[in-house]
Amino acid sequence: MDLSILNQMEPRFLKDKEFLSNVIQSLNLPLDAKIVDIGTGWGKMSIYLALHGYSVITGEPEKWSDWETYAKQAGVLDKIYYQKFDAHQLMFSDNTIDAIFLLGSLHHISDKMSGLKEILRILKKDGKIILFDYTDIRIEQIKQHSPHHPPAINPKELLDDLPVSYTESIDEKKEIFCYVIKKN
Ligand SMILES: C[S@@+](CC[C@H](N)C(=O)[O-])C[C@H]1O[C@@H](n2cnc3c(N)ncnc32)[C@H](O)[C@@H]1O
Repeated sequence: MDLSILNQMEPRFLKDKEFLSNVIQSLNLPLDAKIVDIGTGWGKMSIYLALHGYSVITGEPEKWSDWETYAKQAGVLDKIYYQKFDAHQLMFSDNTIDAIFLLGSLHHISDKMSGLKEILRILKKDGKIILFDYTDIRIEQIKQHSPHHPPAINPKELLDDLPVSYTESIDEKKEIFCYVIKKN
């Protein structure tokens, strides 16, 4: 997988490169999988998916950044489709999406349980939610320049009340974790 273009982009796009890429590759999703990325942000999650060959629908309630410029730099703008949406009320039909990714988005979503239930609603029965989010260690680093940043979340507290099973992993520096979640 050639991710060398990321070396020419802002440092945020290189952070967690191996961890993100290893998870994406381990999923073995077919190249025509229907993929949604919740919380576009800088477009990092969508750009990683696109660099791995996938087309992505991504969105958020309000535009967060000029993600198109980054996607152009990465040469993948044509693989990313942006739609304004809110995780609390998604416009997708029940059981229609193969894989739903979140990278550092869930801790920004105001009603996390309602968002997760809505994400589960649109996920196919054999689909996967791939939830990347940050530990206290990374959130403390972010708070040094953004003091009002929302706190880290513990997904287990939410997932254990939902009809799901999951596997979890964490990076070597213990800054970013990933839950791969399936419907029971
Ligand atoms: C730190 S950014 C995520 C970074 C992004 N995933 C990336 O790869 O660059 C947090 C994101 O959460 C999104 N967000 C906040 N509330 C949301 C909601 N209710 N539904 C969907 N996205 C939401 C924001 O718009 C923002 O894009």
